[in-house]
Amino acid sequence: MAYDTSLSSANTEYLNFVAKQIMPLKRRSLEVLRLAPGDTALDVGCGPGIDTLALAREVGPGGQVLGIDASEAAVQQANRAAEQQGCSAWTRHRVGRAEQLPCADASVDAARAERLLQHLSDPAAAIAELRRVLRPGGRVALIDTDYASCSLNTRRPELQRRILEGFGQMFASPSAARRMPGWLDTDGWHDVQLEVHAFGTRSFEVARTALHLEELAAQAARSGTASSEEAQAWLQDLEEQARQRHFFASVTLVLVWAERA
Ligand SMILES: C[S@@+](CC[C@H](N)C(=O)[O-])C[C@H]1O[C@@H](n2cnc3c(N)ncnc32)[C@H](O)[C@@H]1O
Repeated sequence: MAYDTSLSSANTEYLNFVAKQIMPLKRRSLEVLRLAPGDTALDVGCGPGIDTLALAREVGPGGQVLGIDASEAAVQQANRAAEQQGCSAWTRHRVGRAEQLPCADASVDAARAERLLQHLSDPAAAIAELRRVLRPGGRVALIDTDYASCSLNTRRPELQRRILEGFGQMFASPSAARRMPGWLDTDGWHDVQLEVHAFGTRSFEVARTALHLEELAAQAARSGTASSEEAQAWLQDLEEQARQRHFFASVTLVLVWAERA
């Protein structure tokens, strides 16, 4: 089988696909923000607006939702989605960077950032920006993927160990999930709380997309941690596990929330 090795963090099809797999976690991130009608809510790294539309339902027409993303295509798509859902009057998306948010100090009641920090070379700078724009008592919710927790049933565990090291090259901050609680445990924040959610599947097809399996194999071959033959053999072994109904894949996602001091 030929594998497509494209990977884009702002790929809408990919983000919608993952959203379906982790919808309970997305809902939980809204719950912990304790939004009220009329609130001003921010989603940083909002992608095509999957979560800003959910925020818009919570705060209602008396509130304001702002989505920020570095990708212009994602922002355009998110604005179209808000139009289609009839919430564009109070839901805007703008191109911007997490490290320099286009928001006034203390102007936001609640903010979230999902699977954003893994893409940043300086995630702590983005967290400092979140603190700046939140009002005292405002709440933040962060979600990220703990790539080191990725587990797949394989008959090639030593080869797989080398291939999974590729997460380290694919993301600017692959260990952001584990560092989020510490980044928030400063004078700037109160009441830091943590939940670890597991994503698991017995479907090779689901794991192939959600966990970037082809990209990992290609990355291993590029960096020399495995030969291309070994990388293909690893993928083929996973497919064989699936044919024999022994396929298993899991990864944990970390949700951390806190209140701005
Ligand atoms: C994995 S996607 C997650 C999108 C969305 N939060 C979701 O859960 O569907 C990461 C998003 O972060 C955006 N991004 C990456 N670096 C960024 C930065 N420095 N500032 C703002 N957005 C950024 C990407 O364009 C992409 O849309």
